[in-house]
Order: sequence, then structure tokens, then C-alpha cells
Amino acid sequence: MGRLFVTRRLPIDVRAETAPELDVAVFGEDRAPTRAELIDGARGSQAILTLVSDPVDGALLDALPSVRHVAQVAVGYDNVDVAACRARGVLVTHTPDVLTDATADLTWALLLAVARRVREGEALLRSGRFGGWSPTMLLGVELAGRTLGLYGFGRIGRAVARRARGFGMRIVYCSRSRAPAALEAALEAEAVSFDALLSRSDVISLHAPLSEATRGRFGAAELAAMRPGAILVNTSRGPLVDEAALAAALARGHLFGAGLDVFEREPEVHPALLERDDVVLLPHLGSATEAARQRMARTALTDAVRVLLGEAPRHPIPELS
Ligand code: GLV
Repeated sequence: MGRLFVTRRLPIDVRAETAPELDVAVFGEDRAPTRAELIDGARGSQAILTLVSDPVDGALLDALPSVRHVAQVAVGYDNVDVAACRARGVLVTHTPDVLTDATADLTWALLLAVARRVREGEALLRSGRFGGWSPTMLLGVELAGRTLGLYGFGRIGRAVARRARGFGMRIVYCSRSRAPAALEAALEAEAVSFDALLSRSDVISLHAPLSEATRGRFGAAELAAMRPGAILVNTSRGPLVDEAALAAALARGHLFGAGLDVFEREPEVHPALLERDDVVLLPHLGSATEAARQRMARTALTDAVRVLLGEAPRHPIPELS
């Protein structure tokens, strides 16, 4: 039937969930394979299940001419050179929808942790320096009545907006395309320009894919144009934000704080951010619930098997669908 190479151990038993006639190989270590290991492991495979940590480019595809399908176990696929895949007739699929709620929840975990200084409070308590309730200790930001600005208003941005209603926040968004009027009305979300997003939002949360248009979108000038005391949250892709500029904006007291789940040079984090108390940092946990990660694995696997059987995949990336 064919061979499938999985670049990382997944939270499902991939072999048990596929037909016995399918030859499934899984990279044995719990880390991203090196390029040489990936080529070695995937040799002779028709499909590879990849993760955000696996760069897929023309050189890799040329080294693996049997590969006809890259099944990305993530909704974002900026690690995949889509033009190189298209040029070689290689199909690319991804896993939208199944991680939307998990990622929206984590966005709110970060937002609340920054606004209410959860990390600092916990550290204070554990250090033994908590001397009792104080009317002036670790004062944070109240969210009700404040404006949440969403940069990107796709599945995850909208799920974050739905949660924002429960917190009594006003919602503005800036997106490549306007949401349907009924959805805007239901979420009481207002479409605004990028400049208005910066100047009106008390919290800006990023939910856009990484592309040449979004890379570095939040640099020194844009961060300076944010409201004084605003909060920046990023659970999309690190390179949307210039980390050095963010650290500088925080250092001069322009922003209240930032919550980051993704980094410009992941897994590295800008050292100036690591030193700051007003930044909450997480190791790319957006979709990290057991249920979401299992659904992601199954979605990618199902498409890989469908393609090997000659059927159309259910989740081709938009550029190839
Ligand atoms: C994770 O970052 C994803 O894009 O699914």
C-alpha cells in the first residue's frame, strides 16, 4: 500500500491506527530529527507526517523523490516551502479546526497571567516573601470594558473573541478579509485598519499565519504606536514580533507586559525577555491538550492514508486546494 514516515512520536499509536499493509516508520527519538536523520528515515516513503520543527524545502524533497505528500501535524505550515512542493507536485495537508479551542484557551491563559501578574505572584509566594495581603501588592489590569484587538480573525482569532465576550471586552480586529456581517454582529466585533488596531487596543493578540506580509509586523514603530500600558499576546508565530523591539518597549515602560508562546528563533528566546518580570513565556503550548494533539495526529494520519489509497485528502492547505 505504501510507506509513511512520521518525524516524531505522536500521542496516538500510529501503527495501531493504520492498516497493517501500510508500512509505518516513526523517528525513534523524542526530538526533531536532523536533516540527515529525516532523509534517512523517510527514504522510500510516499508520505511524511511533519511538525512545525521540521523544515521542508526543495533540497529535502529532491533528496526524497518518492515523497508525494507532506502531512503537517499543525494548522500553521510556515516550515514548509509551499512553492517547492507545488513545483514538484507534492501535496501538502494540515490540521485546522481541531486545535482552535485549545489555542484560544491558552491565549486567554497568557492574557490573564500577564494582566493579573500571575507569574510574579506565584514567584513571590514560593520565595517565602509573601507577608500577607496588601492593598498595593502586584496590581494588575482589569479587562472588563477594555478593548481587545485581534490581529488575524480566522478560526482561532474568532474563538478568542468568543471568550472575550465573557470578560466584557470590546472587540476590534484587523484581518486580510472582512468577516461575514452576521459573525461581526454576533461577536460585536468591529473591523478596523492596522493603525486603528494599534491605537485603540488595550490588549493585542496575534492570530495570523507567518508569511512575508506578517513577518516583523510588530516592530519598534508598531509597538510604539500601541497604547501606553497595553498588553501584547502572541500564540501564532514568533517572527511576527521583533523580540528585541518588544524588550525595548517593555524596558522603557511603554507596555504593561507581554505573553508569548512562540518565538522569533524558536526554541531560543531573546535574553532580554527572559530577564523581565512583566513577560510570561511558554514553550509553544498552544495546542498542547491531550485531546487536541490526538485529533491533530489523527487528522494528518487520516489524510495520509486517504492519499495513499488514491482518495482526495480532507485538509489540503488553502494554497493547494
Ligand atoms: C502549532 O503551532 C500549529 O500551527 O498547529
